[in-house]
Amino acid sequence: MKAASQDMHAFTVEAREAIYQTIFSRRDVRGQFLSKPVPDEVLSRIITAAHYAPSVGFMQPWNFLVLRSDEIKRRVHAAFSDAHAEAAEMFEGDKRATYKTLKLEGILESPIGICVTCDRERAGPVVVGRTHMKTMDLYSSVCAVQNLWLAARAEGLGVGWVSIFNQAALQEALGIPKGITPIAYLCVGYVSHFYAKPELEAAGWLPRLPIENLVYIDHWGHSDEQQPLIRQLIKDQAAAQTVANATIHQPGNDTTALTINKS
Ligand SMILES: Cc1cc2nc3c(=O)[nH]c(=O)nc-3n(C[C@H](O)[C@H](O)[C@H](O)COP(=O)(O)O)c2cc1C
Repeated sequence: MKAASQDMHAFTVEAREAIYQTIFSRRDVRGQFLSKPVPDEVLSRIITAAHYAPSVGFMQPWNFLVLRSDEIKRRVHAAFSDAHAEAAEMFEGDKRATYKTLKLEGILESPIGICVTCDRERAGPVVVGRTHMKTMDLYSSVCAVQNLWLAARAEGLGVGWVSIFNQAALQEALGIPKGITPIAYLCVGYVSHFYAKPELEAAGWLPRLPIENLVYIDHWGHSDEQQPLIRQLIKDQAAAQTVANATIHQPGNDTTALTINKS
């Protein structure tokens, strides 16, 4: 990870390390929000980062609905609770019991909510790059979410993505018109701590997949651990976790708040 720059356009080593540190230590936050206010200049920076995301045909299909009102957050939380109860019924046996113990949102505890949307009509019916794969506009708004998430991590802000909603109920709670698609409801705020690993991983729900099983060369399904790239990927995946561990300053917080049984 510390290799010297390969190109005159590369950032300095410090700047590159900061980028990777941000990526490897970003977490989904549910239960660690503080009530400490988020200054507008910080909020503005992370929303600006989102607005600089790539978008198909440069259509910039997003809006950012910033939510501070407790009343609105209660409505959003009610919509979540209904969907969460329905979701529990979709799991069988032990999984259902476990699912019910999970904390999967911080809607009321986080000082700010941000709903990122997609206006699929923003650039008219024919968009460069969306002519054949129609979902590209939705993916563009997701890119905006990721930019915001990473910028927030660099600012010391936690972000939690909540997706357990009936879409119509979320739209109604937020007054989002029918033609606009909600992409992400994000809980945003300062946190007591970040975990070094995804909570679902630390709790044994699912492991992080070995990167060498995910990268194919030339043909779908074709891999070879003797290839230098694959060997390097294995090393870099281990280094990524080391970076995340080193970024977490509070002792003991590589454990998780979730109480999930191994399954
Ligand atoms: C599209 C999307 C939807 C998600 N929805 C939820 C959600 O409703 N509730 C939740 O607790 N986490 C949600 N997450 C967070 C994931 O659970 C989390 O990203 C994953 O477990 C990996 O953890 P990490 O983000 O801390 O690395 C969502 C993430 C994505 C990308």
